[in-house]
Amino acid sequence: MGSRVWLITGASGGLGQALVGEVLSSGERVIAVTRDDEPLRPLTAAFPGCLRTVSVDITDAGALRPALDDAIAGFSRLDIVVNNAGYALAGPFEELDDTELRAQFEVNFFAAVNVLRAALPHLRAARAGRVLQISSLAGQIGAPGMSAYTAASTPSKG
Ligand SMILES: NC(=O)c1ccc[n+]([C@@H]2O[C@H](COP(=O)([O-])OP(=O)(O)OC[C@H]3O[C@@H](n4cnc5c(N)ncnc54)[C@H](OP(=O)(O)O)[C@@H]3O)[C@@H](O)[C@H]2O)c1
Repeated sequence: MGSRVWLITGASGGLGQALVGEVLSSGERVIAVTRDDEPLRPLTAAFPGCLRTVSVDITDAGALRPALDDAIAGFSRLDIVVNNAGYALAGPFEELDDTELRAQFEVNFFAAVNVLRAALPHLRAARAGRVLQISSLAGQIGAPGMSAYTAASTPSKG
């Protein structure tokens, strides 16, 4: 049967990296999706065979799908998806240009959509699974200088 497999995005630092470490320490396995796998190398060495890193741009749906399919096939299962990657674009609304705004939505919203679309066929095939969406209180309460982050943050988690 084997231990559960988690897919965690934004794994190179912060909450994502900490979660990868906690999950591995609890005896489960992780597919860590990241732009930079260097910070994860100590965990790869400490938990042999339990951590697969996928270096892919999560905003590129075409590249993401086969990369995730490969990693999931390597573990022969997927149980939990954590959409964690994200950042806060801060600044007065009138000073944010379209390129910055679109990038905020590409990473915080559409990349989560890309990951979910790639993962769902596996979860549906297993008729089981959980998706955890890391969002922000900013999605519920606006704050000065945070209009872009608030707009791109989902108001609910599930
Ligand atoms: N820190 C807070 O106080 C706070 C509060 C509320 C909500 N959150 C949310 O919680 C999540 C984790 O927060 P954190 O503080 O741990 O964040 P973090 O360490 O700053 O970054 C999280 C990860 O997101 C990915 N990421 C960042 N910018 C990106 C970009 N432009 N394109 C693609 N990936 C990018 C990176 O992963 P890779 O380098 O591995 O690709 C990064 O390690 C985020 O979604 C954040 O919005 C944080």
